[in-house]
This record gives sequence, C-alpha cells and structure tokens, in this order.
Amino acid sequence: MLCSKIHSLIVSFFTSVYVVKWKTFFPQKDLRYAPSLRSRVTCCASVEVLQAYLVWRQFECHLNNQHDTCLWQLIKSGKPAKEAKEMLKGSHKQVKNELLYQCFNINYKKDIPEIFRQGTCVLKTEVEDIVKYKDDGCPVKRPRRKVITVHSENIASFWNDDQLCLLKELGQFTEDLNKTKPDYVKSFQYESRLMPSTWIVIRIDGCHFHRFSEVHEFEKPNDAQALNLMNSCAAGALEEFKDIIFAYGVSDEYSFVLKKESQLYGRHASEIVSAVVSFFSSLYTMKWNEFFPHKELKYPPYFDGRAVCYPSCEILLDYLAWRQVDCHINNQYNTCFWMLVKSGKSKSEAQNYLKGTQTQEKNELLDQLSGIVNYYHTLPPMFCQGSSVYWDRETKIVDNGEGSAGKSRKIVVVKHCNIIETSFWQAHPDILDEKHNGFTLLSCSTSV
Ligand code: GTP
Ligand code: MG
Repeated sequence: MLCSKIHSLIVSFFTSVYVVKWKTFFPQKDLRYAPSLRSRVTCCASVEVLQAYLVWRQFECHLNNQHDTCLWQLIKSGKPAKEAKEMLKGSHKQVKNELLYQCFNINYKKDIPEIFRQGTCVLKTEVEDIVKYKDDGCPVKRPRRKVITVHSENIASFWNDDQLCLLKELGQFTEDLNKTKPDYVKSFQYESRLMPSTWIVIRIDGCHFHRFSEVHEFEKPNDAQALNLMNSCAAGALEEFKDIIFAYGVSDEYSFVLKKESQLYGRHASEIVSAVVSFFSSLYTMKWNEFFPHKELKYPPYFDGRAVCYPSCEILLDYLAWRQVDCHINNQYNTCFWMLVKSGKSKSEAQNYLKGTQTQEKNELLDQLSGIVNYYHTLPPMFCQGSSVYWDRETKIVDNGEGSAGKSRKIVVVKHCNIIETSFWQAHPDILDEKHNGFTLLSCSTSV
C-alpha cells in the first residue's frame, strides 16, 4: 500500500470521528469550524526504534505538560504571560516541580492526572468473553480483541508487565531506551519534499464509497445532493488553503491543484496531503446535515489522498482532461447500466449487454430506452462534466445613492464546464496565472 494512502486514511478517519464525537464530549458547545490535523510517517526499522519513538513521544508529553502547568499557574496567579514564559525558560524539571509545590501547593506527580502527564496509549488487547453457558453451568469462553486506553506512568513497564499481546507481537520492551536520542528517532521520519516549481495535485478519493453510497441510499447512478456536498467541501478547501487555485471533482474524488510556487508546509508531501484530506473529511462530516437534513450519517466517511507533481502547464491540463474524460466515460456507462436495470434486466445482463459498446451505441441505447432524442445531453451538466471549483470575480451592481455602480469581489465558484478545451483556460487566465508564469495557454494543447 502506498505510504501516502496509509497515513491519509488514518488522518481522514480520525478527523471524521472527531467531528462525529464532538457533541458527545461537548454537548453545550458548537463546533465552530472544521478542525484539521496534519500527519507524518515514521518508518521504524526495528522494534527498538519503534519503542524509542514511543518513549520520545511520552517524554515530550511530560516536558510540555510540566511546562504548561507551571505557565498557567503563574498566569492565573497574576504574572503577565511574557514574564511567566521568561521565568520558565531553560529551567530544569526539578526546579519546575519545586515551583509548583512551593508556590502553588501542587505535587506534580500526585495532583496532576496521569492523562495530562503521560498521554494515552490505545491498544488492542485480548480478552475472554463468555459466549454462553453449558448445560452443566460451565461458561464457554472465546478470545476477543478489545480496544483499551491506558494512561501509563511508563510505557515500558506496562508493556512488559501487563500486555501479553504486545509482548507476543512485538517482543520485550528494551529497558534503557531513555538513552536514545530524539534525533536518531527523527531520522526515520519519512521525508518527501515535492519537486520545486511544479504544479502539485492532491487527489483525494472516498474510501469504500460503494458501500457508503449504498448504506446512505444515494440515488443511482448520480446523487445530486451527494455531489453538491462534495462541491461545497471543495469550495471550503479553496477558501482555507490559499495556494489551491483550482479543483476538479467527480463521484467520490476531488483533485486539488496547488500553485507552482507553493511553499505550503515546505512542500512536504505527507503534510500537504494530510492537511487537505483531513480538512475535507472534517467539512464533509460537519456539512452532512446541511445537505441531507433527513438522513442520518450512519458512520464516519473517510478519504485517501496522494500528491503528484506536474512539471508543465501542458501536462497539468492533460491530467485534468484525463479526469474529465474518465467522468464522461463512467457517467455514460453508469447511466446506461442503471437504465437497463430499471427496464428489467439483471445487473449481470446489463453488464454483458454493455460490454464492448462504443459511445455512439450507448447514446443510441439511451435514446431508445428513454424515448428522448439526445437523452445523454439532457442530463445535468454536473453529471456529465464533473465540477470545477476556482476563484472568480463577481460584479454586483449597487446603488450608492449617486447612481448605480459595479462592485467586484473575488469568490469561489463551482461550475460544470468543459475543461478539456483550451477555451476554458483562455477565458480564465487568472486561474493558472498565465502572465506570471510566462506561458501562453494557446500552446497548451491537450492530447487526450
Ligand atoms: P475505494 O476508493 O478503492 O475505496 O473504493 P470505492 O468503493 O470508493 O469505489 P471507487 O472509488 O472506485 O468508486 C466510487 C464509488 O462510489 C462508485 O462506484 C459508486 O458505487 C459510489 N458513488 C459515488 N458517487 C455516487 C453517487 O452519486 N451515487 C451513487 N449511488 N453511488 C455513488
Ligand atoms: Mg473511492
């Protein structure tokens, strides 16, 4: 599995779950905006590195929490924030403990909850469930994996003492890991900076949306509301990430184009991908009710993401044209397929019927089944062309008391147009910033 796929799936799922669970933990507080998370991948070359990584994270948790506990106590006692920070700069942990004890009567270890001091370990452990009782009253037990959370004093000791399954799967926790330097652990961090001066495309795709659309009873083959929800999230992403200059979406996927000179997160692929996919998932989950007021979100949706660099405008436009051609091919096929099914054919009959058919034949079939000439062209453009999202100028005529005048501002628009032909790009030279990048769109011929 692609590295970017793994971490994007995890961060996307985590964000969706976070949004879904918000109300349970903050019943009185509105979630004011879509939260998003960034992630990085560390490939640990051995169990020792993995353990050293965990020890490092737990140690960071301790350091940060001790510092912040002191800082907020000082601030609460009336010290200005700047002065409090200055006081704590470079102070040893023993000094901080003494400060807490002497000035605020806080015994750091005893009075501060473990969850703050040590963080949280979440793991799958093995438990024995009683599934039934035999006639003689003896219980029948079966092993089951159960997720537990532990706020342990020390990862190494709970690993070695309490968690047989960790020992079985990953071996003994090495005791003297505290000597391992964080820099050594950090050296395993997966770094992939995207090539400079290239167009970055982040493509996200819904995970198992075949099932998601079944469970949520999306209309077949296209559900306008589901697509509108995707489009609204894409528009939100353009507003959030100023470096995204264009997005194109179809079905459960969206491609986000970042400007060539973008320095977002130092062009680290994993950070850009995770931030975009996480923000998108967050918005999708938050906006669900707006688009489906009468449908409950049954489980959190999530998306995978990847980044690809395109070195020239021509290749970038070829990429976008490829996605739009794909949209057309899939839409035409799916429209035929579901119309055949509605006409009484089984799914496999419909599949066989369409095998090897060309565009022309499919169009004729649609005309015949619907009884409408040129039926395909009567479908909403959103289904046939997909959705393009970009910043455009909106001019409003306002009456300022001395007559009417045009007022213009930039807004994010969602359009369903042909982006394969260069005429679209010629009509919107600002999107790819033609002048600034010194190319002429006329020379960008797409060859799909
Ligand atoms: P992975 O992406 O590999 O996890 O699989 P997937 O199940 O998401 O399938 P894929 O991305 O290849 O295709 C998207 C799927 O989402 C389609 O096959 C449909 O089943 C479903 N889907 C997307 N949009 C719609 C829609 O508007 N209506 C319906 N009914 N289904 C849709
Ligand atoms: Mg998908």
